Amino acid sequence: MTGKAVVALEAVSKAYGATRALDGIDLAVHEGELLSLLGPSGCGKTSTLNIVAGFIEPDAGRVLLDGQDVTRQPAWRRGLGVVFQSYALFPHMSVADNVAFGLRERRMGRREAEARVAEALALVRLPAAGAMRPSHLSGGMQQRVALARALVIRPRVLLLDEPLAALDRKLREEMRAELREIQRAVGITTIFVTHDQHEALGLSDRVAVMNAGRIEQLGTPREVYQRPATGFVADFIGASSALEGRAVDAGTVELAGGQRIAVRLPRPLEPGTRVRLLIRPERVEPGDGGANALPARVASVMFLGDHAEVRLELPGGARVLAVVRGTVVVEPGDRLTVTLPPDAFLEAP
Ligand SMILES: Nc1ncnc2c1ncn2[C@@H]1O[C@H](COP(=O)(O)OP(=O)(O)OP(=O)(O)O)[C@@H](O)[C@H]1O
Ligand SMILES: [Mg+2]
Repeated sequence: MTGKAVVALEAVSKAYGATRALDGIDLAVHEGELLSLLGPSGCGKTSTLNIVAGFIEPDAGRVLLDGQDVTRQPAWRRGLGVVFQSYALFPHMSVADNVAFGLRERRMGRREAEARVAEALALVRLPAAGAMRPSHLSGGMQQRVALARALVIRPRVLLLDEPLAALDRKLREEMRAELREIQRAVGITTIFVTHDQHEALGLSDRVAVMNAGRIEQLGTPREVYQRPATGFVADFIGASSALEGRAVDAGTVELAGGQRIAVRLPRPLEPGTRVRLLIRPERVEPGDGGANALPARVASVMFLGDHAEVRLELPGGARVLAVVRGTVVVEPGDRLTVTLPPDAFLEAP
């Protein structure tokens, strides 16, 4: 794999005093893919990106670009495009001059630079904004200028650190889709840092879920969502409810309330052991669907427009989150039957 990787990190570690910011990161990013680093604040996303960019040096391990060891190479020699959360445009320069900045540093001739700037601005759909000042543009437009500034040098790799975080929700969602289209159109290998799971799942070819300086799981959005490798990943990505119980046999769990449910997990259970099961809200089915139909009481309802989040209480007190369409009316105190399909469970290690 490493031979074909555009970016590879091998056993990269970095400490700040007693803080182990990165603890043995292995990662290979392939040609044209968009890979997200996803995780909570302080897990090491920005440190990882800065090590790829060459802004900080790792204490141990290697950084490879197209198979070449660049660990000791300064940032400017790596030829990567970087966009940060605060897009840091120069306020006294026009949009075109902002975008041209990296080309002037490379001493490109004016004619060619102008053509490249026009091309980059067209790519981010701001073909007419060249003469404007950044302060006259909306936040979303400024972020596109920052993207154009990163792309204009035709970088080998695009590095994005929470580039949408400063935008309001609607704009962020628009820009998310746009960013994906631009990335596809250019075909540029991209590393995208975010703590927002929707962003990571929606944008990425693959997601590296990070926790405390380590990669807990690397996989496609579907894999990390549907088959979380660790309890941390299951908890961090998507909503899920936990049910505590005890294994009766390889495929049966007795819940704290005494109900016995059938479960189909990737590996058989050890009878007698304690088990923590997770279930996604969208897998909790209303009605009696056969196996694992349980009586429940509606504890609370959160109406969210197109859908509602319903918190259900099972006999024995366990809480399970379910989603219902916004047109379905349920009230706190209602009693109903829900089905928890045997294959809907994840085991939290
Ligand atoms: N220059 C520094 N000096 C000291 N500690 C640092 C420095 N940079 C990062 N750290 C620490 O290293 C750890 C990882 O930081 P990093 O910025 O990579 O996290 P992050 O995942 O990007 O977080 P966030 O989502 O908040 O941006 C944190 O504990 C942070 O406090
Ligand atoms: Mg960060």
